[in-house]
Formats: sequence, C-alpha cells, structure tokens
Amino acid sequence: MKIGIIGTGQIGSTLTRRLTELGHEVYIANSRGPGSLSDLARETGAKPLTVREAAKAGEVVVVTIPEGKIPDLPRDLFAGVPDDVALIDTGNYYPRERDGRIADIEAGMTESRWVANQLGRPVVKAFNNIYARHLLERGRPAGSPGRIALPVAGDDKHAKEKVMRLVNDLGFDAVDAGGLDESWRQQPGTPVYTTDFDSDGVRRALAQASKDRKPNWRATEDSPGSFAQPA
Ligand SMILES: NC(=O)c1ccc[n+]([C@@H]2O[C@H](COP(=O)([O-])OP(=O)(O)OC[C@H]3O[C@@H](n4cnc5c(N)ncnc54)[C@H](OP(=O)(O)O)[C@@H]3O)[C@@H](O)[C@H]2O)c1
Repeated sequence: MKIGIIGTGQIGSTLTRRLTELGHEVYIANSRGPGSLSDLARETGAKPLTVREAAKAGEVVVVTIPEGKIPDLPRDLFAGVPDDVALIDTGNYYPRERDGRIADIEAGMTESRWVANQLGRPVVKAFNNIYARHLLERGRPAGSPGRIALPVAGDDKHAKEKVMRLVNDLGFDAVDAGGLDESWRQQPGTPVYTTDFDSDGVRRALAQASKDRKPNWRATEDSPGSFAQPA
C-alpha cells in the first residue's frame, strides 16, 4: 500500500520503519522539508516529499505532529484527495507541556474531532495510546498470548476497517472503539492510555473511561499559546 506520513518524529519515524519493513511504499514529510529527511530515507527506503505532496501520496495518510501545530498545516491540504483515502490522526492534546490552550477541546470537543475540523476532513484515531517505543518493539503475530490491542475510532466504516487491518499487520489487535465522538475514551488520562492491554483489557478500559477531562490534562493560565476557534 502507498502510505503518506506527515510528521517524522517519534511516532512518524516508528511507523516509517515498521511500515517499510512490511513492504509498504512510504512517503514522508516534516516541517523542514525533504532535504532534512535523507537519513530516515536512506535507512528505510521511504521517499521524502513536501507536506503537500505527502498529503496526496497515499491510500492512507498519517498526520502525526504535535496537536498545537495542526493549525500550521495548510487549510486546503487535503483538497482534491479522494474520499476513500483514510486519514489517521495519532495526536494527543498536551496543553501544559506542549500544545497550549485549545478552546474547543477545553470546552469538551474530542481531540480528534477538533483535528478533523482543522483539516476539513474525517479522520480515524489510532496509535495515540501507545508509546512510540512500544509501537516499534512490541508488535507480535496474530494469536500471540497477551498481544497488545489498540483502539481505533472513526465515523467512516471503510476507512476504519482499512486502519484496523494496518494495526493488525503492525503486530497489534485492533479494537473498534466506535465513532469519533466516542474517541474521548482513548484520550490522555483514560484507562486505555499507554497501558498496553490486550483486546479484552482494551474493551474493558474503554467501557470504564470517564468523560471528564482530568485536571492534569487541562490547560492552565500558564499554558503556552492560544488558538483561534475554527469558524
Ligand atoms: N511520542 C509518543 O510516544 C507518542 C505516542 C502516541 C501518540 N503521540 C502523539 O502523536 C503526535 C506526534 O508525536 P511525536 O512524539 O511523534 O512528535 P515529535 O517527536 O515531537 O515529532 C513531531 C514531528 O512533527 C513535525 N511537524 C511539526 N509541525 C509540522 C508542520 N507544521 N508540518 C509538518 N510537520 C510538522 C516535526 O517536523 P520537524 O522536526 O521538521 O519540525 C516532527 O517530525 C503528537 O500529537 C503526540 O502527542 C506520541
């Protein structure tokens, strides 16, 4: 499969490594441009592109940049990208340490709904609840006892199925976590966040999640930056 990856930090580079190992054709982009990606390209065989080119390069496109940087992406980035291209959002909102205040999320919008609104395009939420290192090292063949499971949330059935197959190929059970408005169940601070449960454990953890955003995951007066609300 052709896969575009926007953001080549901890998660983006991990996905690049694992997906190229599996034989996928991977196209990568970051904020500094293709010239800065030659080491990762040499190591993995992935092809460096601009962000605009990477958005149009895949049957699946992954956006994996800090939440607070999402508004820096071009507003029309996915204009003209066919509807059957699945867009994956791996993002998490870290208002205190990194992202600053995002008013809509503070007001209760799910993080991925906010990302989808910013990008003007439906997203599937996946890979947000596992540490990059575990994503790199802890994949196991299907059927392995204790195989880690990852929740996948999204409104488009076909896009979600495509992403769930990819999760399985990467060595993890995929658990359907419902539509995007249910995706608060896998956000930071929830029982499923970074806990590496198997599929029964993930289902239990999703069911036990509480919708209230925990105080540690809320912006404070001191949180850096602030973002205009989308129209
Ligand atoms: N790290 C984890 O274990 C982990 C696990 C699950 C989910 N997540 C979430 O996944 C997202 C990515 O996390 P990460 O840890 O991989 O981030 P990271 O290591 O800080 O890397 C961020 C990447 O985003 C790129 N970027 C930033 N602004 C951009 C822009 N405007 N256009 C294009 N690329 C841009 C950066 O490119 P440059 O370097 O060129 O600026 C860099 O490649 C975050 O929301 C994070 O919370 C992280």
